[in-house]
Amino acid sequence: MREKPTLLIADDEERAWKVLKINFQDRYDVLVARDGAEAVKTLEKEHVDVLLTDVKMPKMTGTELLGYVKEKYTWLPVVVMTAFGSVEDAVAAMKAGAYDYILKPVKIEDTEAVIRRAMEHSTTLQENIALKDKLKSYEVPQDIITINPEIRSLLGLVREVAATDASVLIEGESGTGKELFARAIHRMSDRSGGPFIEVNCGAIPHELFESELFGHERGAFTGAVGMKRGKLEMAAGGTIFLDEIGEMPLDLQVKLLHVLENRQFTRVGGTTFLQSAARVVAATNRNLKDEIDGGRFRKDLYYRLKVVYLQVPPLRDRKEDIPLLVQHFISKHGETAKKKISGVESNAMEILRLHAWPGNVRELENVVLQSMIFTRGGQITADSLPSEIREAVGAVTDYVPSTKEELQKEKIKRTEKVLMDLERSFLLKLIEDAGGNISEAARLSGYDRRQLQNLIKKHQLDMTKLRDG
Ligand SMILES: Nc1ncnc2c1ncn2[C@@H]1O[C@H](COP(=O)(O)OP(=O)(O)OP(=O)(O)O)[C@@H](O)[C@H]1O
Ligand SMILES: [Mg+2]
Repeated sequence: MREKPTLLIADDEERAWKVLKINFQDRYDVLVARDGAEAVKTLEKEHVDVLLTDVKMPKMTGTELLGYVKEKYTWLPVVVMTAFGSVEDAVAAMKAGAYDYILKPVKIEDTEAVIRRAMEHSTTLQENIALKDKLKSYEVPQDIITINPEIRSLLGLVREVAATDASVLIEGESGTGKELFARAIHRMSDRSGGPFIEVNCGAIPHELFESELFGHERGAFTGAVGMKRGKLEMAAGGTIFLDEIGEMPLDLQVKLLHVLENRQFTRVGGTTFLQSAARVVAATNRNLKDEIDGGRFRKDLYYRLKVVYLQVPPLRDRKEDIPLLVQHFISKHGETAKKKISGVESNAMEILRLHAWPGNVRELENVVLQSMIFTRGGQITADSLPSEIREAVGAVTDYVPSTKEELQKEKIKRTEKVLMDLERSFLLKLIEDAGGNISEAARLSGYDRRQLQNLIKKHQLDMTKLRDG
């Protein structure tokens, strides 16, 4: 951290800059340049917050210096000093983008005020630039809907390494959007003009895998009637997406590792080395650490792949994304459903937020599409949601059972819900009465601390919030 902001004074007149330096040095780090050229050198080496420059200087005039600064250090405020009586210099400097001007011989109080304002202006401009850079790195591709900070910062990281060949490993449960992210990474990268080649490692029979990935020469094996390029070769200049990498057989993992390490490979039955010029993005819905522990995945390959590591959290851990995703899918599938749906009724949204979504975003997308087709009004209603979803969250809806068995089931379900609600209300009131103190709550209720803790956990109550409120 810099302690003081830096003021650079460019002036060839020693007496002038000495006065300024003495007056400003306890507030700013004061640097001095004796002419424009020296000022340029200083700017290249040091971070300067405000530049105070004389107009008439040898080598490079203040006006020329100003022009240079405006081009290269757009955020740097320049205050120009002009001799008393040469107002036209001041006017020209202001036109050329000076922040302000002062007249020589300088009056210290006036100069102080001008420099102070210029410093504040400088801070604002620099903060804006920093913020813009940050926003740029947080900008998320349009088809990825998420306000989850974790995912957004990961995508920012991906953008930072866009120009490199760093491999990316994406882990996440089924339906969390791994493929969507892999494609976005390709598009964000400097290879976006090249091909995106997908290999589903779980779907290729073992004996075909090698030739699929590396290609084969003519006659390499029975049935290899002609030469065939492999996916790795086809992905040159682009990205190869190794989906379900956790399913890759161990012997092929060794071969892939060799390719990644040596950046070259041969077609099956071939002897010529081909350069591997593809960026690797791998995805899996398994936990590769567990696979390594179980001896099914190679540790060395794992570390080769996860230079950049993106773990996509399951939807249940980022429920804040649900309303946005629902809206997104409504507009995405408007045509398929052949209906104008404006939104989601609040009951229905409540159910969507409560559901645990084991199938993640894909499941949510399917549910939204189904409901769009089944709903009768212009909105998705609770009753248009698939019954498994409603049942899973124990939602009370307008559903009316039609058989004895259904009635029995519904009665149990609704009773459970009523009891849960009662228990929850009891807990909330108890904690409030006890001022958020668990021991006190235990004393008041007759439960012991541990039982209470369990109840709080069961209802997912956030004690920190309850204490504050
Ligand atoms: N954040 C998101 N924004 C918009 N659509 C999403 C998002 N995440 C996932 N989807 C959509 O959900 C569906 C499933 O995503 P995707 O195929 O990428 O998941 P996956 O993790 O590869 O699943 P699997 O492990 O089953 O292969 C796709 O239609 C995708 O467009
Ligand atoms: Mg997938």
